[in-house]
Amino acid sequence: MMGFEIIGTGHYVPGKPYTNDDLTRVMDTSDEWITKRSGIRQRHYAPEGVGATDLGVEAAKKAIEAAGISPKQIDYIVFATMTPDFLFPGPGPLLGAKLGLEGVPAIDIRQQCCAMIYGLQLVDGLIKSGAAKTVLFVGAEAHAGFMPWDNWDALDNVPGHKPVTPEERERANQHRALAVLFGDGAGALLFRATDRDAGLRGLKVHTDGAHANLLYVPGGGFRTRPYWSASMFDEQAHIPRMDGKELFKFAVTRLPECARALCAEQKVEIGQIDWFLAHQANQRINEFIREKLKVPAEKMPMNIDRFGNTSAATIPILIDEQTRAGSLKKGELNLVLALGAGIHWGCALVRW
Ligand code: ACO
Repeated sequence: MMGFEIIGTGHYVPGKPYTNDDLTRVMDTSDEWITKRSGIRQRHYAPEGVGATDLGVEAAKKAIEAAGISPKQIDYIVFATMTPDFLFPGPGPLLGAKLGLEGVPAIDIRQQCCAMIYGLQLVDGLIKSGAAKTVLFVGAEAHAGFMPWDNWDALDNVPGHKPVTPEERERANQHRALAVLFGDGAGALLFRATDRDAGLRGLKVHTDGAHANLLYVPGGGFRTRPYWSASMFDEQAHIPRMDGKELFKFAVTRLPECARALCAEQKVEIGQIDWFLAHQANQRINEFIREKLKVPAEKMPMNIDRFGNTSAATIPILIDEQTRAGSLKKGELNLVLALGAGIHWGCALVRW
């Protein structure tokens, strides 16, 4: 049975990191609060004019270089983002054009932080069906566009910048639990069909749209005429609404449940799994999952301290870092876990 292997990985984050202390220039927060609640110490933001496909193309180039292939060998693109350059068309075609891949099919998926799990199912299907041999999967996010402050010069501490007004600070404070979590970046994985004993060993995905209200953007949708309006900005409807507590509860219950069910189905013991590659939404979520599944800390790599939650980019970035560090090796059995807005959640057992 035809499987897949990952032949190249890459990631890219824009500009300099912004520390928790930097954020105190635009809203009331503290390094202590953010670190204690989330494990995040810094994150990156896409500069004005830079979108998810600009970040994605940099990550993709690194993955192509690592694989040592010509981009022309790519015969399918899967692009995952919740912060696309345009409402439509999606980012896949734009990335294809940036890589010079004229005529190569590109599909956009939007499973937010759960994109990697759906992505693995899709890539596996494309390869097993013979529709593709070499698939470029890119997860990339430019969340900077929904950050609840306008005064980026104040955040950057540009000499002579305008002061942040009390009204601006108050507005940002209303969204501070959300704002501190997210960071920008891109990760790219090149999947190739293989006869080797590698690829998907089982996968479970779930969606429950009844909880879509736990994390969503209320404004800018086609239920209204026009789909954007000045009042939307007055109501800050372009900024996501998040019920962090409920999402937290879902993640720490559904993900261990899902992992246990998948392992039971595939007759795999938790102890037989080499690496647990979990989405990085909050370090405490992953610690809960680890404890529930009795996974030693060294088997669940974390990078949330440096990047924050990069949504669809997170797991590809993590895989790239772990691959380049020499940690992930051929033949190992890894469990990939994620939950995201939708809500979507799932896990996948992958033989590397
Ligand atoms: N700095 C300082 N204080 C803050 C901040 C901040 N950044 N944010 C909130 N607070 C305050 C609140 O105002 C509140 O104060 P009060 O008690 O005086 O009212 C207090 O801290 C507690 O706020 P909560 O929102 O209850 O904090 P909680 O302990 O739930 O932690 C957090 C919030 C970190 C967001 C947590 O709920 C979480 O990580 N949830 C998961 C979110 C998540 O996974 N999101 C991504 C989903 S994946 C995707 O698809 C993108």
